[in-house]
Amino acid sequence: MTSRTEDRTDPEAFLVAPVDPVSRDRLAGTGLEYRLVPVDGDAFPAWLQIVARGFQDGERSDEQVAANRERSGYRRLTGVYDPSAPMADHPVASIASWIGRLTVPGGADIASCAISAVTVAPTHRRRGIARAMLEGELRAAVAAHAPMAMLTVSESTLYGRYGFAPAAASASWKIETRRATWIGPRPAGRVDFIPRERLRELIPALHERVRLDAAGEIDVPGGHWDNFAGTRPDAEKAGEKRAVQFTDESGEVRGLALYSVKENHDDFTKATVRVSYLLAENSDAYAALWRFLLELDLVSEVHADELSVDEPLRWMIADQRAATVTLRDHQYVRILDVPATLEARAFGAAGRVALDVTDPLGLAGGRFLLEVGEDGRGRVSPWTGDDAPEGAVAVALGIEELSAVYLGGVSLATLAAAGRVQSSHAAAAARVFAWHTAPKLSIWY
Ligand SMILES: CC(C)(COP(=O)(O)OP(=O)(O)OC[C@H]1O[C@@H](n2cnc3c(N)ncnc32)[C@H](O)[C@@H]1OP(=O)(O)O)[C@@H](O)C(=O)NCCC(=O)NCCS
Repeated sequence: MTSRTEDRTDPEAFLVAPVDPVSRDRLAGTGLEYRLVPVDGDAFPAWLQIVARGFQDGERSDEQVAANRERSGYRRLTGVYDPSAPMADHPVASIASWIGRLTVPGGADIASCAISAVTVAPTHRRRGIARAMLEGELRAAVAAHAPMAMLTVSESTLYGRYGFAPAAASASWKIETRRATWIGPRPAGRVDFIPRERLRELIPALHERVRLDAAGEIDVPGGHWDNFAGTRPDAEKAGEKRAVQFTDESGEVRGLALYSVKENHDDFTKATVRVSYLLAENSDAYAALWRFLLELDLVSEVHADELSVDEPLRWMIADQRAATVTLRDHQYVRILDVPATLEARAFGAAGRVALDVTDPLGLAGGRFLLEVGEDGRGRVSPWTGDDAPEGAVAVALGIEELSAVYLGGVSLATLAAAGRVQSSHAAAAARVFAWHTAPKLSIWY
């Protein structure tokens, strides 16, 4: 199911849309040039090198540049150049963005501008270059009718100022396998090893079948799968990855997992498994693959990241304290169009909520009346006058807070208790915005 809201976003047009004129002029005022960087052009290798340097990574080899270029066609690349620098052909700042799909509560997905590769050279930091680029890309996303923007972050403190909020947290698990003891189902079907290349073939279609099940997930660009599976020519430690599939009794592949093992030379019974990715189409696949991983011989710990904060796995082990779980902000979203995003998701309860939304960037704020029917679907109309419409719960909040509650990852009542939302009846508004499953995002981008 896709969004009921008419989808006016054109991902192809966004790739080549000119850079935002406001930010271009602001940067030009400080002697800098803000440009698009064509993926197939001569400027691409230098752009990629400064992204690697920006993340404190090493120089990319020609092979890595070629592999990255081949997989970058879906991205719009922008750079800021300093003509007075000795390496004037190397940008001093970068951003990559594309129009992806974000799953929202209720099983629909919406167009969402994904932002990645945000770097500013240490020689040019703290002069407002990142701000100019981020505001520029957000305005470009609005111009392309993207109702939402999204990103994953290196530091939590960077993006709230632009209206982004952590909307789907991720959980990292460390499981002491001998203590855990499997008490979950033991479904029929089988787990088998497969070549990594086979997993790479199977994973996109399987992911397409499951990504609408959890709010917060996105459609994954192909290059990410190569990265997971170690099937890029430049992939590091690819040979350490093991791939398994779960097939049900009818022979259909319903789940895939990738993991690597770090042996312990002091004690061969204490190897550590790191799960790179586990994808399950149904609860049988989920149980069979986790049981396989927790019962591996010679393994004492299993580590897995980017899990949901509410994993069924917790209820499949006898000793819940065998798992140490650490939570972290992960998927950030930023509403760009309040009516379109609210009408796309489903809500937890019927009700009327009068939203007074402020937006520091002036992109999406306003007063909106959300009316949710018994079917959990919402209608949004403008709200005029001083007081909230009759019978509606008044809620005053920033676009950051509205974005935070959008996927159902935090209660509006919690944000009210934190002083981040003002409401005449926060509990009633929270019931409307609630969703029964935790949002999640199983990758970085
Ligand atoms: C993070 C980074 C992009 C910031 O670039 P920058 O050009 O120095 O940022 P700006 O000068 O435009 O600063 C914009 C705002 O962010 C704030 N800011 C910048 N870096 C920050 C940081 N690390 N922590 C907290 N705030 C930060 C600034 O104080 C400024 O605040 P204000 O405009 O609200 O007053 C740059 O330091 C960088 O490349 N870091 C390494 C790579 C990285 O982590 N990228 C982010 C990937 S998600």
